[in-house]
Amino acid sequence: MTQDIYLTGITTTGTPHIGNYVGAIRPCIAASKDAANKNYYFLADYHALAKNDDPDKISQSTLEIAAAWLALGMDTNNAVFYRQSDIPEIPELTWILTSMTAKGLMNRAHSYKAAVQANSEGGNKDADKGITMALYSYPILMAADILMFKATKVPVGRDQKQHVEMARDIAQRFNHHFGDVLVLPEPVIDKDTAVLAGLDGRKMSKSYNNTIPLFAAEKSFRKRIMKIKTNSLEPGEPKDTQDSTLFDIYKAFATPEETAEVEKLYAEGIAWGEMKQRLFEYLNDHIKPARDEYDRLMADPAIVEAELLKGAARAREVSAPYLEQIRSAIGIRKLG
Ligand code: TRP
Repeated sequence: MTQDIYLTGITTTGTPHIGNYVGAIRPCIAASKDAANKNYYFLADYHALAKNDDPDKISQSTLEIAAAWLALGMDTNNAVFYRQSDIPEIPELTWILTSMTAKGLMNRAHSYKAAVQANSEGGNKDADKGITMALYSYPILMAADILMFKATKVPVGRDQKQHVEMARDIAQRFNHHFGDVLVLPEPVIDKDTAVLAGLDGRKMSKSYNNTIPLFAAEKSFRKRIMKIKTNSLEPGEPKDTQDSTLFDIYKAFATPEETAEVEKLYAEGIAWGEMKQRLFEYLNDHIKPARDEYDRLMADPAIVEAELLKGAARAREVSAPYLEQIRSAIGIRKLG
């Protein structure tokens, strides 16, 4: 059996929060240490352009995300950790794929359809108002990310599943015309990874502005935790662990024994204020060593830059010769 190749991208918008950590960063860091698999992790800064046109925010987010992943122990000798924009073969492949992707396929992308729907619901005469070609072609750039490294498994959140399926469709169509050149990927959706709720009880997400940043300074970290929504039960009244954001966050970090202890405290009626303080202390103890490393990297971005360039060099050992092969297959060749 051939070895699986795992690949996933992180769009460089926003600051990493504890929901990202539990849902994506933690499982990827663990996988990065597994020598049995080939793993590619990259910062999708070209994808970020579809969502953000503030240059300083794009570069700040790239630094924060890279520093966070490194501080948390990404094994950059085993896994390949790089920045999308350092790999010129990716946009080249994007154009090649664009040439052979049906427009109708892009019309069906959920994210594009949602933007069109928002326009028509907002009473806009122009259904495509504010929609860039980057948003429209987003799945093709993502297909190039995936196909460039012959990824077989692509771990993503549910919202990205359709994009991976589109990459597969695009690869299939390419192979049908040009021979067996591209490798068909499949999405991997882990049903067991926790989806954390945010301060207001909705899914933790930067678009809801309800996040707890992973590496916020201790004081503001505590402040955010104190803002987590609870119900109005008084101290001493038994509390349900179901639908308790405080409990869910605790559980996402704690051992089963520690979780059982907190279950007991809930049954005994722990006061919400006390539970918040307990959660803060617990998380803070856990995060502190990585936060110190994160602060060190943020203060010295050259270390992060060097790591990314090292990853890019390794990635290009694969992408450069493979792109030559792809170009040759479609007829972009030396003439003599
Ligand atoms: N679009 C993905 C997201 O927003 C990020 C991404 C870009 C990605 N390229 C990828 C994920 C390739 C997996 C594979 O989450």
